[in-house]
Amino acid sequence: MLDKIRNIIGESKLAYVRSFGCQLNISDGEKIKGLLQQTGYNFTDDETKADLIILNTCAVRENAEDRVFGIIGSMKKLKEIKPSLIIGISGCMTAQEHIAEKIKKSYPQVDFVVGTSAINSIPKMLFDCLNGQKFGVDISEYDDFSEVTQQVRESKFKASVPVMFGCNNFCTYCIVPYVRGRERSRNPDDIIFEVRSLVENGYKEIMLLGQNVNSYGNDFGEVNAFPKLLRELNKIEGDFIIRFMSSHPKDASKELIDTIFECDKIAKHLHLPLQSGSSDVLNRMNRRYTAEKYLETVNYIRSKDPEFSLTTDLIVGFPNESDEDFNATLDIIKYVKYDNIYSFIYSKRSGTKAAEMPDFVSDEVKGRRMRKLLEIQREISSENYRRFIGKKMRVLVDDVSKKQKGYVSGKSNEFIIVEFEGDNSLIGQFVDVEITDAMNWAVRGKII
Ligand code: SAM
Ligand code: SF4
Ligand code: F3S
Repeated sequence: MLDKIRNIIGESKLAYVRSFGCQLNISDGEKIKGLLQQTGYNFTDDETKADLIILNTCAVRENAEDRVFGIIGSMKKLKEIKPSLIIGISGCMTAQEHIAEKIKKSYPQVDFVVGTSAINSIPKMLFDCLNGQKFGVDISEYDDFSEVTQQVRESKFKASVPVMFGCNNFCTYCIVPYVRGRERSRNPDDIIFEVRSLVENGYKEIMLLGQNVNSYGNDFGEVNAFPKLLRELNKIEGDFIIRFMSSHPKDASKELIDTIFECDKIAKHLHLPLQSGSSDVLNRMNRRYTAEKYLETVNYIRSKDPEFSLTTDLIVGFPNESDEDFNATLDIIKYVKYDNIYSFIYSKRSGTKAAEMPDFVSDEVKGRRMRKLLEIQREISSENYRRFIGKKMRVLVDDVSKKQKGYVSGKSNEFIIVEFEGDNSLIGQFVDVEITDAMNWAVRGKII
């Protein structure tokens, strides 16, 4: 199939692939590019020059979907200018049948739609389009997510490695289980092989990905499979750092935490999504832990290192969240003192259980709560970040600073943004930085 497409399109065609949403989806975008590369496409960041456009979409919140519909709408013009342009839509939005239908009905500029587990059928879709097919759709769920052999990675030094796909948790607000299917863990040998080759090819940061990365191996019926995998990866020789996300608090075992502390290559940072500080809301969210249980995990981590870096996700305005519930969230963020939070106003997702729950809280109240949460977190972060002043941090430099001319920026082992004077020759390297200043979003220092 790949060769057949190459014979039709030749060597000079350009593809524009844009991914939205979480890192798993971005990783899928890299796989899509890998497939397209094998069919002979080169890549462009300018959609007006493209012969093929693929939008790899996210459905987690309504505004994410609206944004994509806006972009698809604007592509009608591009198709009028270049009728041979092929437009494909992939990712989580398309895995919902009503969305695939809406695209087919209302956006005739789109040539094909593929669901999240049908990436491997993109070459077939393309072949059919090139042979005059009007509209192709494949949103079937495949059991095998066969190992993709080629990826076009966005970075030369940071690599994402999915260890599992799908989610079994059905948190009542969340669309992911409906669009990503059930949990499927990759074979550990394949993961170890992939990470070893990445490290041999100069990659310095390996980000292990899964919707609940620490549930890895539950589908094999293996206990503590994720800590075991981490310990194996830690044995790989080379100068690199291992990160992982997201960890579900219900599966954040002592063994996982001990592993983080005992393995020198694992970053000393844990992203542990809380969602709400109210046990009643957590219950209605079907999160399967209480606020107390969550704090037990935090206390265990902090008993090993009181300054250990934690980050979290929070949802503000879950249906019928009371002032008391919201204050419970504020109490926890003041207690835990996260280095950073990712907070979202609840977005109703059709087909989920929460979408059926009554909600008497106004948008105005939700907005006010969000502002309050962010204000408190800003104070916490600026106070927290002062603990690094005078200390040495090891930083993987990833870009030039957008805020300060002549500075570069990177992430420390603890996942803190660090900026310091330097030029782009440092990008992709580990450097030691002595911290001199702290802000509420980053720290600054001098290269040692
Ligand atoms: N699997 C991860 C977990 O359990 O924490 C998170 C995955 S989800 C893609 C990323 C974040 O989006 C969630 O942690 C949650 O805070 C947020 N989110 C998911 N559904 C949402 C919704 N309907 N409205 C607002 N935020 C939502
Ligand atoms: Fe969504 Fe919950 Fe699964 Fe995370 S664990 S992806 S929030 S259903
Ligand atoms: Fe969005 Fe799908 Fe990720 S819904 S957050 S792209 S799993």
